[in-house]
Amino acid sequence: MTNFRPNRRRAAVLISGSGTNLQSFIDKIQTGDLALDLCVVLSNNSGAAGLSRANNAQIPTVCISHNNYPDRQSFDAALVEALDPYLPDFIILAGFMRVLTPIFIAKFEGRILNIHPSLLPDYPGLNTHQRAIDAGEKWAGSTVHFATEELDAGPMIIQGRVPIKREDTAEQLAARVLKIEHQIYPEALSLLSMERLKYEGGAAYLDGKLLLKPIQYS
Ligand code: GRF
Repeated sequence: MTNFRPNRRRAAVLISGSGTNLQSFIDKIQTGDLALDLCVVLSNNSGAAGLSRANNAQIPTVCISHNNYPDRQSFDAALVEALDPYLPDFIILAGFMRVLTPIFIAKFEGRILNIHPSLLPDYPGLNTHQRAIDAGEKWAGSTVHFATEELDAGPMIIQGRVPIKREDTAEQLAARVLKIEHQIYPEALSLLSMERLKYEGGAAYLDGKLLLKPIQYS
């Protein structure tokens, strides 16, 4: 997976935890459904299970703990420096639990994707599933969007929804949402790798047309 293929776009994947989304990319690449090179997996947490997934797929890994930096800016500068040698075309945030500063966003402007476990613009931030359950929502889901300086607010690309069942716990709902994430995130990466999806002037374009609403996955 690390062999340089000049015709393929290169993506760095940033994780903090279990990395099931990362695994979905690895699986789709291995079955030939996603033509992308995962050039590095970076984690801020040395205990992230996703690092083993990367090792198993022979993807280089880098670990940089935010605890070793006095502020967000210096941590982000270290991230940029660590990623540089891998020449990523795209930065894929897949459960990376750090808020990125304008230093990082500006360096990769329009080339950073994030997945957020809610039907944005509803429920940005943390504890999305419990908040949706507490509010009596009927539907939950996840949204892939371009990351901008504003948290969970960049142009949306694709959204997948799942029902909230009576008696759902946040954990049960999270598991249902994760399954749909494993469909929509590789789909967004595929559009990106084929250059069908682009970011320009603060907006998302699909096949040259402004994406006014996220693609609805069902
Ligand atoms: C996902 O639910 C994603 O939406 C959120 O963090 C979780 C990451 O899960 N940003 P995993 O590490 O990919 O399993």
